[in-house]
Amino acid sequence: MDPYLARSYLDWLVELGADEAIGDNPVDRYGLAEKAKPAAPVAAVTVPAPVQAEEVDPVAVARAAAAGAEDLGALKAALGAFEHCELKRGARNLVFADGVAGAKVMIIGEAPGRDEDREGRPFVGRAGQLLDRMLAAIDLSRESSVYITNVLPWRPPQNRDPKPDEIAMMQPFLERHVQLADPDVLVIMGNISCQAALGKRGITRLRGNWAEAFGKPALPMFHPAYLLRQPAMKREAWADLLELKARLLA
Ligand code: URA
Repeated sequence: MDPYLARSYLDWLVELGADEAIGDNPVDRYGLAEKAKPAAPVAAVTVPAPVQAEEVDPVAVARAAAAGAEDLGALKAALGAFEHCELKRGARNLVFADGVAGAKVMIIGEAPGRDEDREGRPFVGRAGQLLDRMLAAIDLSRESSVYITNVLPWRPPQNRDPKPDEIAMMQPFLERHVQLADPDVLVIMGNISCQAALGKRGITRLRGNWAEAFGKPALPMFHPAYLLRQPAMKREAWADLLELKARLLA
């Protein structure tokens, strides 16, 4: 194959989120399926009914674990010990937070992408770089005045949208995170974050209007990843940033 064409196929796959080589040798899955065909039936045996495992409610487990965390370090440890979210198994790192704990502004993003998963820090990829520029435009930065986290601490495979049950089981951790970081205001970026923090979606309608989330004033905004795809929407984002700045100066 033409190496340039091969390279562009690879770039395309990475763009889609398939950025991990998971095996050195190809696997013939048709051959495996053939081998796995059931053997001829043997004489029927009576199988005892399985013992019913006790049902676990992951949201209740999350709520108890989050409530038991007395500070941000303990909350990070509680998240790390939470075993009921499948996303954890596919992720390289727990992505907890970045910036200044205790800052007036706390930003809630959606979920780590490839770069964040690698580094274990939120918003370090292209969307994160845009976020840093947006913050700088109103004299804020993660180094001095902003605390940043995500609804989900683990990267969803292929960057797919998190499922409702995944959002629901992370919500108690997020709520506790806000209580412990105790910002003056929240900035909620994108629909997934609105779902987790406000219980509703519709960022185009919600953005720019102050709401309340976890007992704090909360400003929904377009997600920077969306702004990268739709640069014309940066006008609205700029208006929202000015609104945020005005609130902080009031
Ligand atoms: N998008 C998010 O919502 N969070 C990140 O950390 C990175 C990209």
